[in-house]
Amino acid sequence: MANAKIIGLGSYIPEKVYDNAYMESIVDTNDEWITRRTGIKERHVSADDEYTTDIAVKAAEEAIKDAGISPEDIDLILLATVTPDYFTPSCACVVQDKIGAVNAMAMDYNAACSGFVVGVIMADQFITTGTYKNVLIIAADVLTKATDYKDRATCVLFGDAAGAAVMTATDEPGVISFDMGSDGSGHNALTSLAFRNDSEEIEKRIDGRKETIWMAGQAVMKFAVKAMADSSNRALEKAGLTYDDIALVVPHQANYRIVDSAIKRMGISEDKIILTIDKYGNTSASCIPVAFNEAVKTGRVKKGDKVVLVGFGSGLTYAACVIQL
Ligand code: COA
Repeated sequence: MANAKIIGLGSYIPEKVYDNAYMESIVDTNDEWITRRTGIKERHVSADDEYTTDIAVKAAEEAIKDAGISPEDIDLILLATVTPDYFTPSCACVVQDKIGAVNAMAMDYNAACSGFVVGVIMADQFITTGTYKNVLIIAADVLTKATDYKDRATCVLFGDAAGAAVMTATDEPGVISFDMGSDGSGHNALTSLAFRNDSEEIEKRIDGRKETIWMAGQAVMKFAVKAMADSSNRALEKAGLTYDDIALVVPHQANYRIVDSAIKRMGISEDKIILTIDKYGNTSASCIPVAFNEAVKTGRVKKGDKVVLVGFGSGLTYAACVIQL
């Protein structure tokens, strides 16, 4: 059986910036609180007419170029999002059309902020069984379009971005091991409503919009620290490796304090991780590919290095994988 390896990465960050001074001007907050409680200084915001498929295309095109393949070579497009342009068609089909991946099957899926890592794991299944050769994974969200800018507890956290990876069948080592899971008993901890007319849920939202993100921050935080550390530890154990073998851990960037507590539980120090939270905030599933792309393109990791990607998200979900570059 072939191995599945990431051979190309891409990302896209919208131009417009909301810094902490801007957040101070719209809600009762301040730079000191946001920095101390979250680590966030700035977040990027999509233009009014810029949607998930628009930013997904940009990240996908960079990843395909980086991989040195043609769009026609892609067999499958997996797109992780919680802010789709449409309920149907999928964003993946729109992206397929725009990038010219005419031979691909394309679909969206929702594992919230764990979505990119789950995509790598799903692609690994299709590739190692010999079903597909090239899989494009995209994580793209415009969370700011579902953000309640009257709710200071959530609006300071979110930004928009897209990240993408091309995975291919190869004899070289690629995905070494993974761990993933869900705890649906926490499904009420972070919500955004579609059709459901749940008056209790709608009343929680200051702006009264159903699709706005509402979150029980403390509950999510408690889940996140344990889920990320334990999932990463289990993936490493399955690989027969320890953190000493790992060049870099790329964690989901929801809150600096979550990452800090999770790495303490893993028993590693901050020099083994990459942090982008200060620049972009929480951009959902794209946090991991955006940070990973930055680590690769700036030379922080090189070919042959082993890396852990680990995330958690609404659902509640978590996923980790150990890969070799
Ligand atoms: N500015 C100033 N004060 C704020 C504030 C803001 N932006 N947001 C909340 N506060 C206030 C609260 O109203 C509360 O005030 P009170 O003590 O007078 O009631 C106080 O700060 C503490 O609030 P609390 O919710 O306990 O803070 P916290 O330390 O839990 O931090 C979060 C809040 C949201 C930053 C944190 O819970 C978090 O990051 N949770 C996880 C979020 C996450 O990961 N989500 C995405 C999952 S993918």
